[in-house]
Amino acid sequence: NVYCVIMAGGIGSRFWPMSRTSFPKQFHDILGTGTTLIQQTFERFLNICPKENIYIVTSSIYKDLVSSQLEGIDDANILLEPSRRNTAPCIAYAAHRIRKENKDAVMIVAPSDHLVLKESAFNKTIDCALTQAKNSGNLVTLGIKPSRPDTGYGYIQFEEDPDSDLEQVRKVKTFTEKPDIELAREFIHSGDFYWNSGIFIWTIDSILDAFAKYLPEVNDLFVDIESALGTDKEAAAISKVYSMSESISVDYGILEKAKNVNVVLSDFGWSDLGTWGSLFTQIKKDKEHNAVVGKNVVLSNCSDNMISVPEEKLVVIQGLNDFILVDTNDVLLVCPKADEQKIKQIVNDLKMNK
Ligand code: GDD
Ligand code: MG
Repeated sequence: NVYCVIMAGGIGSRFWPMSRTSFPKQFHDILGTGTTLIQQTFERFLNICPKENIYIVTSSIYKDLVSSQLEGIDDANILLEPSRRNTAPCIAYAAHRIRKENKDAVMIVAPSDHLVLKESAFNKTIDCALTQAKNSGNLVTLGIKPSRPDTGYGYIQFEEDPDSDLEQVRKVKTFTEKPDIELAREFIHSGDFYWNSGIFIWTIDSILDAFAKYLPEVNDLFVDIESALGTDKEAAAISKVYSMSESISVDYGILEKAKNVNVVLSDFGWSDLGTWGSLFTQIKKDKEHNAVVGKNVVLSNCSDNMISVPEEKLVVIQGLNDFILVDTNDVLLVCPKADEQKIKQIVNDLKMNK
């Protein structure tokens, strides 16, 4: 009864210039390991359920990328969105579609572009979350111990629960999506908040109940076209639904409002690889603390750099410290690590995210 839904319709704008609207982050071999982030995500879930139960929800413009990167995936398991409406409609679509196939399904919803370093810890956490979701009917999210007041995450405040027999499961008191920096600092300071990893586990019934309660307009659109799902009328029906649906994330639309949320306190080597700086902290460094993705890079008197260049390109650098240097053949980015946040604005101003 376990189903996985991989959300792969985002554009990863903070990973410019490698990640672009036409070829976003999840489809790149960001780590230089030979596999892309979505391939790693797919492999991770093949340990948890059969291929037939794994659904990818993505924009129709990425259909060919998904088919070519995920070997053996059936077209019927790629749910195509005609436009970007953020994660709530994406999850509603998958949930309604899966309910038609199996009304007792339990669903794991995961982003396509995250890093998980400790595979077996991840599997254990998922087992625990599946058990909790089935037994309680609650919405379950995986929480990560925070390390800085990052404003790009959801923050989860949970109740201490000495009687909980599942040691790491807690009841969620409050869920705050993307707080401002002052609030994020307070949360970190108080010590009883975890980050939302963006990986959710729930039964089909629980999540569709939550949609009916908190996002009824979105839910009704899908209820109206239920008979078309899984038939040759699906694409036309979905096109109509998406033209009418609001754009909202599941975090703002549901998690912030729902009362029946649990968090599993987790530690599986998670990173959302949100920025070049976060990639730098995650991957192997050389003796001078340079993180290098690329096969032909010659460094002299360089330290603490994040360098990502095409495999075949010979790159020679002398005397560079604390920089991000990314070459994608058509774009070269050079930026001090400390100024990383400024890149997004420049890219937006120049409308270069194609
Ligand atoms: N199919 C589809 N359609 N997928 C989408 C869409 C869409 O319109 N928008 C985003 N996604 C995918 C992205 O590709 C990504 O894999 C995932 O959904 C999450 O979207 P993001 O846009 O990356 O969300 P976020 O990083 O701002 O915030 C979420 O993740 C954080 C952890 O990384 C939230 O859940 C936060 O609460 C959480 O802390
Ligand atoms: Mg993200």
